[in-house]
Amino acid sequence: MEKTFSMIKPEAVLGGNAGKIMTAVEESGLKIVAQKMLRLSPEQAGSFYAVHRDKAFFDELIENITAGPVIVQVLAGENAIEEYRRLMGAANPAAAEEGTLRRLYGISIEKNAVHGSDCAETAEREISFFFNQLEIMQ
Ligand code: CMP
Repeated sequence: MEKTFSMIKPEAVLGGNAGKIMTAVEESGLKIVAQKMLRLSPEQAGSFYAVHRDKAFFDELIENITAGPVIVQVLAGENAIEEYRRLMGAANPAAAEEGTLRRLYGISIEKNAVHGSDCAETAEREISFFFNQLEIMQ
């Protein structure tokens, strides 16, 4: 069993699409083993997305991710990281495959509905950024 980190972004939560995204996650076979809703401060968001600090889109990214509540989750399953990336689709909703979360619920590359870890090291860092061991159902 592998674990990955998922974030349902403000545009999806405020747009009333969080439940549909969770249903799609469960129907894909991945299990939600931890979950909470919170609103990130700009400082917390900057720390979470520190790897993008030098990118041209950084300020807009922080603005979007702090615009409302997010739902953070730990997902578990076989090949969870790759499976969730497949379910999310490409970062740009316009280029994402039909039926993927970003294609269905993303508005633009900046507001692409969901975030998921890109590799095992990132998953570990992102999960522990938000959750302690007691909050994760094993
Ligand atoms: P996410 O998976 O949350 O990781 C970083 C985010 O930056 C990405 O999704 C996008 O929402 C956002 N972003 C904005 N512009 C770009 C871009 N040109 N390339 C990649 N990500 C971008």
